[in-house]
Amino acid sequence: MDETALAAHFDATIAGDQRIEPRDWMPEAYRRTLIRQIAQHAHSEIIGMQPEGNWIRRAPSLRRKAILLAKVQDEAGHGLYLYAAAETLGVDREELTEKLISGRQKYSSIFNYPTLSYADVGVIGWLVDGAAICNQVPLCRCSYGPYARAMVRICKEESFHQRQGYELLLAMVNGTDAQREMVQESTNRFWWPSLMMFGPPDGDSPNTRQSMDWGIKRHTNDELRQRFVDMTVPQAEALGVTLPDPGLRWNAERGHYDFSEPDWDEFKAVISGSGPCNAQRLAQRRRAHEEGAWVRAAAQAYAEKQASRTAAA
Ligand SMILES: [Fe+2]
Ligand SMILES: [Fe+2]
Repeated sequence: MDETALAAHFDATIAGDQRIEPRDWMPEAYRRTLIRQIAQHAHSEIIGMQPEGNWIRRAPSLRRKAILLAKVQDEAGHGLYLYAAAETLGVDREELTEKLISGRQKYSSIFNYPTLSYADVGVIGWLVDGAAICNQVPLCRCSYGPYARAMVRICKEESFHQRQGYELLLAMVNGTDAQREMVQESTNRFWWPSLMMFGPPDGDSPNTRQSMDWGIKRHTNDELRQRFVDMTVPQAEALGVTLPDPGLRWNAERGHYDFSEPDWDEFKAVISGSGPCNAQRLAQRRRAHEEGAWVRAAAQAYAEKQASRTAAA
């Protein structure tokens, strides 16, 4: 087939809501957009292990420690599925890691905020994993097959993350006044950064249209943000926690909650590297990568030995 016929076949596959697979022809811009998005997603999973990993050694009980360990390990797994999905597009994981640690590729802004108390473990599960679920469930229907399939498993695990967070918060709000204050204080810090996880407002998100036409994205940033707010308000009420937005109220006409604008200047500062923990997160990732060099070298040597044995046989 010549390129026009291949492009027509691609367009028909997208229009018919079928999946594009690694072997299929795809426009270069589609490939580049997916590599950027999947890499950014993979980096977020891996960097996202840091704020919570910070609390593993200080978990208040063996039970809480086991839950948190399992959750942080899941995030490592998510990163690995996603790097593998990105590799089907012809990039190398080594190259993506290089781009992350040199600051040329981004990760979610939310992980540049510090975790200051154990309540943050609960609030991150509730709000951050909750926002991730809103963002990621539609990605299970993404037009690129390997990404969509990776998201199915990731979403199941994310819903465990959300529930473990909520369960921790329920225990805390049924505890002492000091524990209730910890939950409220943590919610105050994480509410706005969680809303920012959906990205800039639609008017300021130039790539959304193209990504929706390609079936990579299914809803706009503002639609997903609204869905998250609508889902979270009743959960906050059940916890007895106040969301820190005086503009938050039910709008019967729209059938949705109204809410105030996040501070988009803060968002821009954080994604461009000036958030409270950007430098620390990257330094830690760089150090872990360097310290893992011997593991990669050993795995490589083992693979070569196996390959030469197979060749000899
Ligand atoms: Fe995850
Ligand atoms: Fe998660």
